[in-house]
Amino acid sequence: MAEPKKLYIKTYGCQMNVYDSERMAEVMDGYVKTETPEDADMILLNTCHIREKAAEKVYSELGRFKNLKAEKPDLRIGVAGCVAQAEGEEIMRRQPMVDLVVGPQSYHRLPELEAKSRAGQKPVDIDFPEEDKFEKLKGRPKASRGPTAFLSVQEGCDKFCAFCVVPYTRGAEVSRPVQQIIREANDLVERGVREITLLGQNVNAYHGEGEGGTWSLAKLIWELDKVDGLERIRFTTSHPNDMSDDLIEAHGTCKKLMPYLHLPVQSGSDKILKRMNRSHTAEEYLKLIERIREARPDILMSGDFIVGFPEETEEDFQATMDLLEAVKYGYAYSFKYSTRPGTPAAEREQLSEDVKSERLSRLQEVITRHQREVQDDMVGRKVNVLFEKPGRLEGQMVGKSEYLHAVHLQADGLKAGDLREVEITESGPNSLRGQIA
Ligand code: SAH
Ligand code: SF4
Ligand code: F3S
Repeated sequence: MAEPKKLYIKTYGCQMNVYDSERMAEVMDGYVKTETPEDADMILLNTCHIREKAAEKVYSELGRFKNLKAEKPDLRIGVAGCVAQAEGEEIMRRQPMVDLVVGPQSYHRLPELEAKSRAGQKPVDIDFPEEDKFEKLKGRPKASRGPTAFLSVQEGCDKFCAFCVVPYTRGAEVSRPVQQIIREANDLVERGVREITLLGQNVNAYHGEGEGGTWSLAKLIWELDKVDGLERIRFTTSHPNDMSDDLIEAHGTCKKLMPYLHLPVQSGSDKILKRMNRSHTAEEYLKLIERIREARPDILMSGDFIVGFPEETEEDFQATMDLLEAVKYGYAYSFKYSTRPGTPAAEREQLSEDVKSERLSRLQEVITRHQREVQDDMVGRKVNVLFEKPGRLEGQMVGKSEYLHAVHLQADGLKAGDLREVEITESGPNSLRGQIA
């Protein structure tokens, strides 16, 4: 048998891209994955367009492979993901050594595109095809897996926040049918997975076809709750306006649903929220969190913030700081606003970099303090840990608590996939330590 060819994939951006990279690796029959681009017969960059100058960074990253390509003309170089979707053929004009370009909705066609490129063509496929890429990906060879996995249930977004490219790169909101998801979940569990994170750009807007009509995310979660061997369910990312009553209730009653919720708000100022087209106020968001905490008092909240959005005054920024104090997030991700071509806010007058940087550092100071306090509060408590891999020290294992904190433990005989009750004894800079309870 011919030796398998080697595929190197570099993944940028969100969990959706991580999931897509796994699917792309699976679809490429005859290839095995490699971690070193120097060995590769094919290099794929799975790109993200959310940060400033994302496309420029892809071009310079591609430049690094120029020598490899010169030494090895058979090497195929492909660009996938959201920059591929946004730039299309422009990528080949700027970097002629790129052999193929594939958007996030077309990657089931990757083998065909590779074959075309080996036949001397330069295929670009950034369609939003009629056929369902997930159906096309069915029945792939089944490698065993680690204890945690992503499962994409919804893609795209109809919200059009004024700063965001996702509605343009990922297209309109689409939900996968219930049966497809349940099948994939069962398959993952057979392969060793015990925790599944349901993915979607707007996952709580899920409205897939199921028995008897359209199902909500909560209904889907209850169906997954029945899957034997599946111990934990998470989902990300949610929009405040789609936090329905049944989903809030599930947080209180579904044992497999983990007490962690990523619910970005972006700003605490109503004026800025309006300019961002977020269609909720700060007060509505806080009320929502109150209701979620009533259903599940120990839930750990996580969020995203943008500072320095056009027209943000010091007063608006203070409103964000107030909201931060009111919620006290266990995790929060914060960004300086940066323009994305084609989005409405990019056309508006911009704040200076200095103002943005200064606000970001003030915001991050509070976020870091809260994260630390929430983590320190775990000391003395008993949590459940799903062990994922050995730690750096001899005999050490690392896993995640239900709150998504990393937990280190010295214990013999533990293996990846084990779930244990652990008493937390210490809180370090980035993780907790504990002992089997
Ligand atoms: N679908 C998710 C996340 C989308 S992108 C949601 O609705 O929240 C992830 C995060 O990147 C966003 O929450 C936002 O905080 C940040 N982001 C998106 N566009 C940005 C921009 N132009 N400048 C700065 N941050 C941005
Ligand atoms: Fe982007 Fe807003 Fe959609 Fe999130 S909800 S993906 S931030 S447009
Ligand atoms: Fe980036 Fe596309 Fe995800 S722009 S954040 S990879 S949806």
